[in-house]
Amino acid sequence: MRLEFPSDFLWGTATAAHQVEGNNRNSDWWAWEHRPGSPVAEPSGSAIEQYGRYESDIRLLADLGIPVYRFSVEWARVEPTAGDFDAEAVRHYRAVAEACRNVGLVPMVTLNHFTLPVWVAAQGGWLNADTPALLARYCAHVVTALDDLVDWYCTINEPGMVAFGGYVGALGFPPGSLSLPEWDTAIDRLCEGLVRSRETVKTARPEAAVGSTHAMVEYEANEGGRPLMEFFRGQMEDRFFAVCGDDDFIGVQTYTRQAVNVPRIVAPLARSLVQFDPLRRAVLPRLIRRLSRHVGGGSDEPGVTDMGYEYRPEAVAATVRRAHEVFPGKDIIVTEHGIATTNDEERVSFIREGLASLHQTIVDGIPLKGYVHWSAFDNFEWALGYGMQFGLISVNRSTQERTPKPSAHYFGTIAQENAVEL
Ligand code: BGC
Repeated sequence: MRLEFPSDFLWGTATAAHQVEGNNRNSDWWAWEHRPGSPVAEPSGSAIEQYGRYESDIRLLADLGIPVYRFSVEWARVEPTAGDFDAEAVRHYRAVAEACRNVGLVPMVTLNHFTLPVWVAAQGGWLNADTPALLARYCAHVVTALDDLVDWYCTINEPGMVAFGGYVGALGFPPGSLSLPEWDTAIDRLCEGLVRSRETVKTARPEAAVGSTHAMVEYEANEGGRPLMEFFRGQMEDRFFAVCGDDDFIGVQTYTRQAVNVPRIVAPLARSLVQFDPLRRAVLPRLIRRLSRHVGGGSDEPGVTDMGYEYRPEAVAATVRRAHEVFPGKDIIVTEHGIATTNDEERVSFIREGLASLHQTIVDGIPLKGYVHWSAFDNFEWALGYGMQFGLISVNRSTQERTPKPSAHYFGTIAQENAVEL
């Protein structure tokens, strides 16, 4: 069976600056990786050197026939000290966008993908009430400089993960706090950051489409697990959705499904945990930290990805449906979907099954406008280092040689034919 996609459907791949460029020394992540006792498996180092190799990387994506390249601009490079914009760094990102256009690729720019300049982090990062305005000032600079080279912007990548990963002891993200009140404050600041960065893009370049991108999970809960699940989904998704009504599109980023099943006997305890603030503050951060420990363990279990996630390609259709319920009528783009695996055949199946489920959402009338696969290249997977392979293209980090995997050709063909064969 052949599933055809709408003629203007966007097909793309994604990366983020810190994960591919290398030597992002002015960022909070770099400092975090080099801290004694850092939870990060290995430092990012020279990554896959995309800062210097962007032209050939972009040409490779064009040769593979994948027309959208979502990459991020690095705030720590563009504004290495407060208020001083580095003209060379800005020229670099113009050159990246130009390189895309020269080979017929559509650049989709993420303005902030997880990292902060060290000076912003030193002032309190996402706990500081000034950070949203600082982000907006940086965005204005970048968007003005990129001018008519870029028609697609994503504001803050996965604000839910930034707050969850950094402020509640989960996932080994900086600054490594373990505090429920800080989690809440970070969420509020990130919400303000979403609003201000969107408004900045709209003012600086009204012709561009601007959206936010959200880490969404297909949640499943039994009756006892429902209050806990709703609390989590609220912190990870709903609080951010509440400020995204004026986005041009909603970016959905989904990797798996999460079951929240609580045995009946402890269900009242789980409910009180969510309802009573002192209990929540005392127990939840520790619980979250414990539960996050299994992420990235690698796994030989059938049905479990190297991230320790359930293999569930069609989870993305469930989250697209949820985004549509929250934002009826608004355009949706899957801005990330992918799998960490050393078995590329599994990646091919993941893409095929994921796309089949997404096709059905379009048939059902949901305005899904594109699919961007994470990731174009194997790269630095944050606290897990280089162990996780999400790429369509493998990279030998000693020689920096790029080798497209069969999944890269598979996905390129889908993009070219605008259809997937089942
Ligand atoms: C992030 C990426 C990350 C990917 C795979 C998303 O949460 O945006 O930076 O590499 O998931 O874990």
